Amino acid sequence: MTTKLPYSKETPETIQSMFGNIAKDYDRGNAVLSFSMHRIWNAALVREVTQNQPHGTLLDLCAGTGDIGYQYLKKAKGKGHVILLDFCEQMLGCAQEKASELELNKEQVQFVQADAQEIPLDDNSVDAITVAYGIRNVKEPSKCIAEAFRVLRPGGTFGILELTRPHNPLMKLGHSAYLKTVLPLLGKMVASDQEAYEYLCNSIHNFISPHEMEQIMMEKGFRSTHQRPLMGGVATIVTGMKPGGKRVEPKRAFDFFTNSNKESPLQKSMLVLREYDSRIRRRSLIVQ
Ligand SMILES: C[S@@+](CC[C@H](N)C(=O)[O-])C[C@H]1O[C@@H](n2cnc3c(N)ncnc32)[C@H](O)[C@@H]1O
Repeated sequence: MTTKLPYSKETPETIQSMFGNIAKDYDRGNAVLSFSMHRIWNAALVREVTQNQPHGTLLDLCAGTGDIGYQYLKKAKGKGHVILLDFCEQMLGCAQEKASELELNKEQVQFVQADAQEIPLDDNSVDAITVAYGIRNVKEPSKCIAEAFRVLRPGGTFGILELTRPHNPLMKLGHSAYLKTVLPLLGKMVASDQEAYEYLCNSIHNFISPHEMEQIMMEKGFRSTHQRPLMGGVATIVTGMKPGGKRVEPKRAFDFFTNSNKESPLQKSMLVLREYDSRIRRRSLIVQ
């Protein structure tokens, strides 16, 4: 008999409280459960979305404890600005603690407590957008993608990094076993809430494929879309560009497991340096 989990994205408040419960353990859990591979994947996501805008404003949706944003700031060497948006107060609290440890100031980082399906920012107001391991938890992913399209400036890139299911049958088998047995056990060891980690496994199994994510991106207006499987598809980065502005062909990296750069030749990316006037108007719920 299967017991019904208390967490479901159909009732977002349960997801909010689940992340609230695991917020303090989240970073440790992430490192153990992904064997620290998430650091490499996060860096790849930041690289993908900032190639044609290395120093502007990055909006990170479902930002959690802020790793993507802080990685971007490090890469931008003091010239970037990041907006961390999440609907869970405790996760943002952890992100704020990290910002103090890193001695970041308000010019560099803003915290917005809001729903990723209703982003409280102006149209065309940010240079790049990311969402890492978050869209899977959002009730209507297509709403989130449409909102990303609205707030992104023309020429900017939106990148989704999500845990996905590999294609290779052998890897698929191992991956399934890992999700069903190892992950909940590890989850129990690193965090008090085992059901949260069971939810995590189910959500990976039940979420739409990278191909479907790319389709929705195109429906919402994104162009030059691209999928980049990581470690043979255990995770995938899907990117898209908002038409307009100056188009720069993204530089693709090599994925050892899939030779995913076969059709996209490595080429030197041009850096489009633009002065960005900070037009972001904080309309609601800005924590700091
Ligand atoms: C698995 S964590 C990912 C955190 C972070 N992006 C990272 O790279 O570790 C998912 C995050 O998405 C947030 N989240 C889920 N649904 C959301 C929504 N509809 N709006 C805003 N944040 C949401 C959760 O609160 C949680 O912090």
